[in-house]
Amino acid sequence: MRVVSCSSSPAYHPPPLQNPRVATVSPSARPASLLSVGGGSPFVPEVTKAVDSLHAEFRAVDFMVARNTARVLKAFQNARVGSHHFGGSTGYGHEEAGGREALDQVFAEIFGAESAIVRSQFFSGTHAITCALFAILRPNDELLAVAGAPYDTLEEVIGKRDSNGMGSLKDFGVKYREVPLGEDGALDWAALGSAVNNHTKCALIQRSCGYSWRRSLSVVDVGRAIGMIKAQNPDCLVMVDNCYGEFVESIEPPMVGADLIAGSLIKNPGGTIAPCGGYVAGNDKLVKAAASRLSAPGLGVDCGSTPGDIMRAFFHGLYLSPQMVGEAVKGTLLIAEVMAARGYRVQPLPRSPRYDVVQAVELGSRDRLLAFCEAVQRSSPVSSFTRPVAGNSPGYASEVIFADGTFIDGSTSELSCDGPLREPFAVFCQGGNHWSQWGLVLGEFPVQRVFTNFGTCIPLHTRPVLTHPNFWHLSCSVTCEHWS
Ligand SMILES: Cc1ncc(COP(=O)(O)O)c(C=O)c1O
Repeated sequence: MRVVSCSSSPAYHPPPLQNPRVATVSPSARPASLLSVGGGSPFVPEVTKAVDSLHAEFRAVDFMVARNTARVLKAFQNARVGSHHFGGSTGYGHEEAGGREALDQVFAEIFGAESAIVRSQFFSGTHAITCALFAILRPNDELLAVAGAPYDTLEEVIGKRDSNGMGSLKDFGVKYREVPLGEDGALDWAALGSAVNNHTKCALIQRSCGYSWRRSLSVVDVGRAIGMIKAQNPDCLVMVDNCYGEFVESIEPPMVGADLIAGSLIKNPGGTIAPCGGYVAGNDKLVKAAASRLSAPGLGVDCGSTPGDIMRAFFHGLYLSPQMVGEAVKGTLLIAEVMAARGYRVQPLPRSPRYDVVQAVELGSRDRLLAFCEAVQRSSPVSSFTRPVAGNSPGYASEVIFADGTFIDGSTSELSCDGPLREPFAVFCQGGNHWSQWGLVLGEFPVQRVFTNFGTCIPLHTRPVLTHPNFWHLSCSVTCEHWS
């Protein structure tokens, strides 16, 4: 039991304001930039200007954070979350003190789902989505991706790209079709209106953009798509890849009819605290079927140990998640504002509504993509001294570069960016515990310096090179002056 110590000194009462008038400052008396209070702006002038101009947008994000925090808090209270739920378990996980069940219940309520499984044993978002797809689909069924090509790592899962006999959906006789996006990068509503047939067992909707130059979907649009799908075939189940969408809005896909959703805990709902894991939520029977793919038929949801402190981290991260998502969304607004002003194409556009935490910037060349990722890595708290290099990563067809100087390996709820080394050489930025981290990064990537310094690259030192994921080696690299 926690011991509360009491001090014998009298209770502290703040002194009354000397001059109550100082509490009300007329708009004209306000400093031009709040950032100039206490020592001037920490940002380069163009970033300061952008920050000042985004006041209304940042305030709207704060309101969203408050709404979602209230939703999360209510779910914690309804599940009577207590510190006894934070204990670890070992082996089969049968001796668990109720944390697993409470966390599942909290997730289900937050997402408006019948039930959920939240487990450390999900490796990643791809793994959780895969369990969900295999839960639904059987031989001769058809999977229909309705928002264009799904995320790169799902290609081998589906069998769009050869999985070398590793057991893709295609290997098991599941057919696959795609509804390409419209020319404007949004859903092709007209095509979707006649795309579903009697064999379509599952429609896959990817809420976030992934590595495509496309618009991310609002939950309202997800609901509209579900309505159109079910109108054509009421038995068609809808599975939503919810990665990067959680808590960006105040509703989630199960609230508009999604049968199943899946995502990763080292993205939004882990709140930068969860060290690993993923979740599946939705219809109770389908969640149990997904659990059986994660474990085995017959084992279901009531097993699987979570050793050490991980349950506490899951609860803590989930509680913080709306706030962390809010910071990341503010980061996207700032990136869009500054990079568009520098002449780059951005997606989504500055000040347009946000439906995920991802900001894409078309950098247009391999060198600029590498330089941007290097700037993010240099501005990171972990491994700032390393240079990210492009390489092959499991699940990706193209070479990819990741900048993730993060406390949790590969965590994209922390400050990070990445991109495939292919046209149009777009970088996808996400995360951050506070938007100001992006303000600092943007000062590290001024247009001028990128162009000039890369012209004067000289071989300098042998320095550690970080390849993703987790391969360290020393190599004699070409290093730019401004690094030394
Ligand atoms: C939309 C989307 N879905 C799925 C994934 C895969 O998630 P993970 O890297 O956790 O496997 C990603 C990764 O960025 C994504 O952007």
